[in-house]
Amino acid sequence: MSDLFDFDIRKDQYAVMGNPIAHSKSPRIHTLFAEQTGQRLEYTAIQVDPGGFDSAVTHFDATGGKGLNITVPFKQEAWALVTERSERAERAGAVNTIKFEKNKMLGDNTDGVGLVNDLVNNNDIVLADKQILLMGAGGAARGVMAPLLQQQPARLVIVNRTPDKAVALADAFRDLGNTEGCGYPALQDQQFDIVINATAASLHGELPPLPDELLADNAICYDMMYGAKPTLFMQWASERGAAKVLDGLGMLVEQAAESFYVWRGVRPDSKAVIATLRQEIATSN
Ligand code: ATR
Repeated sequence: MSDLFDFDIRKDQYAVMGNPIAHSKSPRIHTLFAEQTGQRLEYTAIQVDPGGFDSAVTHFDATGGKGLNITVPFKQEAWALVTERSERAERAGAVNTIKFEKNKMLGDNTDGVGLVNDLVNNNDIVLADKQILLMGAGGAARGVMAPLLQQQPARLVIVNRTPDKAVALADAFRDLGNTEGCGYPALQDQQFDIVINATAASLHGELPPLPDELLADNAICYDMMYGAKPTLFMQWASERGAAKVLDGLGMLVEQAAESFYVWRGVRPDSKAVIATLRQEIATSN
């Protein structure tokens, strides 16, 4: 008789893998999404040691895991590991979302669409025909290039401390739109409508060397980082009269929402979750 009740009541398993991972907000975000949409799933954070990524993913898959988010420093390794890649993952050179299907490991990248959805849907910002400056030429910048260019800005300039990397990144995406790369000194006498910080500078409490006259009228400044306090770049932008200064919390929730959709086919209400997290961040500090 007891066999009748011997069914698998385990919830579908998801996780984020990275290093460090202890402060990841992804488990909280996906738990809120699951509650909101009535999806039965469990989402945990898994710290992976350097060199242990492939075996950690294989183990997660073998134990019935349904999907993973991948964060620093494993997004490129994930790109190499998966058996299939979406076009946006292929282009980004990085995978932040894996969906496990029978004998298949599907790699996707939701970072870029997360940024664009936060700008366009949550903040009513139009990117078409705008002069956009993207600071940084590492993985974070590469991941948002294609979705930004798909919005058809007048020009997307990549600026980097090491100018050659900015030029190479622009060259790799020129087929998608008007883009060019340069170093910070070349920004002198140029103005931009939208300035996006994809450097690691905020993480180190640093500010890229931006000229004072960089912002056009009604400029919007976006830092992909977030925290309880505005980053140095956000402070710089406010002091120079930016019309809107935004942090990366919305992007974080939007990339998660897109991953959730990839896995479950259901779109959560991301705005409500952004509001909840903002409140939690404010009261925890
Ligand atoms: P990520 O994957 O987060 O993009 P990354 O690939 O290490 O990380 O890239 C970090 C980016 O931040 C690079 O563009 C780096 O500039 P360099 O290529 O010249 O190293 C940029 N960066 C880091 N600290 C910076 C600072 N203080 N000022 C300006 N740019 C900075």
